[in-house]
Amino acid sequence: MLYKALLRPLLFLRDPEKTHEQTLALLSRLSFLEKTLEQFFSIEDQRLQVRLNSLTFPNPVGLAGGFDKNAVAVKTLPGFGFGFIEIGAVTALPQRGNPKPRLYRLPKDRALINRLGFNNEGAEAIAGRLGAMRRNGHFPKIPLGINIGRSKIVETKDAVADFLSAFAKLYFHGDFFTLNVSSPNTPNLRDLQEKNLLKELLAAIQESNRALAKEARTKEKPILVKIAPDMEFSQVNEIIEVVESEKVAGIIATNATAFLRESLVSEMNEPGGLSGKPLRDKATSFIRHIYRESRGRLPIVGVGGIFTAEDAYDKIKAGATAVQIYTGFIYEGPAAVKRINRGLLRLMERDGFKRISEVVGAQAPACPRWI
Ligand SMILES: Cc1cc2nc3c(=O)[nH]c(=O)nc-3n(C[C@H](O)[C@H](O)[C@H](O)COP(=O)(O)O)c2cc1C
Repeated sequence: MLYKALLRPLLFLRDPEKTHEQTLALLSRLSFLEKTLEQFFSIEDQRLQVRLNSLTFPNPVGLAGGFDKNAVAVKTLPGFGFGFIEIGAVTALPQRGNPKPRLYRLPKDRALINRLGFNNEGAEAIAGRLGAMRRNGHFPKIPLGINIGRSKIVETKDAVADFLSAFAKLYFHGDFFTLNVSSPNTPNLRDLQEKNLLKELLAAIQESNRALAKEARTKEKPILVKIAPDMEFSQVNEIIEVVESEKVAGIIATNATAFLRESLVSEMNEPGGLSGKPLRDKATSFIRHIYRESRGRLPIVGVGGIFTAEDAYDKIKAGATAVQIYTGFIYEGPAAVKRINRGLLRLMERDGFKRISEVVGAQAPACPRWI
């Protein structure tokens, strides 16, 4: 309440990217408040626990990639009640991203447009930061995912080596990895969603995953592929096929959209990725399609336009094992995750579900293909 009535109007008067940077800087200094934040913003309830591959999330609501690109606030962010967080996108090489301004708010649409272009400090610096946090006991207790993107100056033909380089540098710091082949803001990145290129990338990452796990005497890390909402379902089917054949842990659906501008109320036609409410139903339709096509066997992390418990519940019913938010967190504020988790419990009770895992795919029965 306080956030929406007082703080948000003030924050929204200021430049979006500067406000974001300053908020992250503040959060990075507030790590000692993690426990206090937790008391305000977290709820613990066994019924919300979900498993994704070898990972256990205390609740199904995670922070989406792009919010904390440089992993500066990973100790504080779990205090807002997330079940897991994803940092990045990290690229092998440090890069500044696109010229500013490159982030826009569309309050009438409850949306954002960004064309940041993977501005980040690079894999080495971020691995160093995460390593120091681990040594100092400042590592989050919830699972931490690392989102990896392609460096801008690297051509598609060299993309696999670029991904491998970032993956190896960050390997020991992530509980899972997201291969981001779907940002609309890095030229030709989305080419990697093409069947043959994706297969080459996934095969190489999995080989490296096996080798690095052996070296460290740990289990292999779950790999997720994050896809765009801007493609036909026939291409999604090809991605599912490759993901299954390379034994990748799952799919994150979806990234921001480069299209959908016709649905906007705001007079804004900036190029970049549109996120938030206008993306919600499209992302859910992708989740439902993947769940059905993979016959419920492929874990899906659902993301796109989640603001309320109902939004999250719809994605879980469509087949998502877990969900993530970004734009909803900006608009709804620090209590967003708690509200969503509380609401999920209420909706589960209403519908007679004992655990959130029972809700997964409840509204998208994974029919055998021949029916
Ligand atoms: C400012 C901004 C930066 C983002 N950066 C990344 C990124 O680096 N990597 C990524 O995979 N997704 C990134 N995303 C996409 C989000 O993770 C998410 O997939 C998308 O915004 C849809 O979710 P939402 O509607 O809850 O925001 C970014 C989104 C925004 C708004």
